[in-house]
Amino acid sequence: MSQVHLIDHPLVQHKLTLMRRKEASTNSFRRMLGELSTLMAYEITRDMPLQDVEIETPMETMIGKAIDGKKLVLVSILRAGNGFLDGMLNVVPGARIGHIGLYRDPKTLQPVEYYFKMPAEMEERDIIVVDPMLATGNSAAAAVERLKQLKPKSIKFMCLLAAPEGIATMQKAHPDVPIYTAAIDRELNDHGYILPGLGDAGDRIFGTK
Ligand code: URA
Repeated sequence: MSQVHLIDHPLVQHKLTLMRRKEASTNSFRRMLGELSTLMAYEITRDMPLQDVEIETPMETMIGKAIDGKKLVLVSILRAGNGFLDGMLNVVPGARIGHIGLYRDPKTLQPVEYYFKMPAEMEERDIIVVDPMLATGNSAAAAVERLKQLKPKSIKFMCLLAAPEGIATMQKAHPDVPIYTAAIDRELNDHGYILPGLGDAGDRIFGTK
């Protein structure tokens, strides 16, 4: 079963509460999401491999530790996933970016891919898939399924809020993919929205309706 990592750092929890408030403006919602993304990126990259590099300080030569940030790919599930990218790039500026667009077929209710653009050599890369809301989990599971065809070294999934239903979907479809979230909310409503949630993440990031 995939591990669920609850990122319960006080700064993360505080900013999330500010974002959930219905009176939060587009400007402050976006700013909080940016700050949260940076903090969450710090946690999710905690186990990134380090390699030895020889460097010279002003005093002498030494072996330092370095990560290969270029091996990391952040994959945004459109469109709300894009809200995570800038904040994460603050701490991993060399990461590559992929995008995946999915819509739900109104007849079959299954996710259908309409956009897919990834960097080259995905088999050498570690992927973090980002989407603020893990609701039904169908889009996340479909995105991970598609990415697995490229045989990456590893895949993690990062969201702001997860519904129990979405976690269950992911754990069934992809027990090998760890989930990182700032909160696990109560349930989904009949329209697939997370309760208590924060509303439509895409609309709140982009100021649409
Ligand atoms: N997507 C959203 O933006 N919000 C939800 O509550 C569920 C899915």
